[in-house]
Amino acid sequence: MVTGQETGDVALLDESIKRSSNTRQRVFSGIQPSGNFHLGNYLGAIRNWVDQQAAFDNIFCIVNLHALSQATTRETLRDNTLNLANVLLAAGLDPSQSIIFVQSDVREHAELCWLLSSVTQFGELRRMTQFKDKAGSKDEQVSAALLFYPVLQAADILLYDTNLVPVGEDQKQHIELTRDIAARFNMRYGETFVLPQPDIKATGARVMSLEDPTKKMSKSDANPNASIALTDDPDTIRRKIRRAVTDSGSDVVAAPDKPALTNLLTIYSLLSEEPISIIEARYAGKGYGAFKSDLADVVVSSLSSIQARLAELNQHPEIARSVLVDGAERARARAVAKMIQVRDSMGLGLY
Ligand code: AMP
Ligand code: TRP
Repeated sequence: MVTGQETGDVALLDESIKRSSNTRQRVFSGIQPSGNFHLGNYLGAIRNWVDQQAAFDNIFCIVNLHALSQATTRETLRDNTLNLANVLLAAGLDPSQSIIFVQSDVREHAELCWLLSSVTQFGELRRMTQFKDKAGSKDEQVSAALLFYPVLQAADILLYDTNLVPVGEDQKQHIELTRDIAARFNMRYGETFVLPQPDIKATGARVMSLEDPTKKMSKSDANPNASIALTDDPDTIRRKIRRAVTDSGSDVVAAPDKPALTNLLTIYSLLSEEPISIIEARYAGKGYGAFKSDLADVVVSSLSSIQARLAELNQHPEIARSVLVDGAERARARAVAKMIQVRDSMGLGLY
């Protein structure tokens, strides 16, 4: 669980970076084209990417090579990739302010992953929380890609001299590993990589499951009622919120012993842009029913404009395709230049 102190510090640091610098800081983040994009992805990551995009030099990547770490099919991966591109555009990423591209279109990611694996310890990878969660007790059978996943993520980030990585709380450990890998590389081969910082917001960085507020809302949750998908229709959203678990008692308050209400109030607050205290005061003595019904309205109306844009983009797949072709070209130019430096640092290539 993230503490306000930690994330607050990162947010403050980010403010000072923004102010003290004349050149814009480089932002890089990625998202997997797997499963259903949900409210946690939106509030923990994409909404921040969109809100901050004018302030930074941004690169956003649909990480289809990461998605290969779990079994998928050709058709599913292709469909998910295009759908996700449409979702990112519908949510407000603007190709004139941000490079948006698909990871496998820039081969340097895979190449750098291998080079970085030489300065990554097996023990570091085996200890990653995400690996342990996903591998469970079946670590003999899961793909080696699941173990290697954070090395590829480090390659994504380091390839672009990234300063800031806006992500949800679950990615903090991977960004810390990326910093360790970069520092070790720099120590061994000379100053080559910029050490990135995670950009994790104080609220919304860990949206919890509607069915179990001790678990994060996750694409891989088998229970569709645990999360609100960006594409859920209004009736589905209302039903899921109505049946969302609550805490004992009937007060609409956020508190450590009220994880379910804290989660619902956080969602309400982020979408309505009102402080939690104002919302708590509004529902004092009114009980969970009235609160949930209004929360459903807030979610439905917040998602409706994104859904309308998404429906239009789905009708015109050529728009996303051309954004991705252009994005890959721009990302590739930067990646190729960086790899010349990396190969040279490592003593690869004599001509
Ligand atoms: P993924 O779904 O793993 O591809 O994650 C894409 C982005 O969404 C990452 O920055 C994650 O940290 C973020 N994210 C995923 N689940 C949540 C959640 N439940 N709450 C907040 N952020 C999340
Ligand atoms: N591992 C990230 C996730 O599951 C996705 C990701 C891949 C990423 N490469 C990245 C995020 C680089 C930030 C930066 O959410």
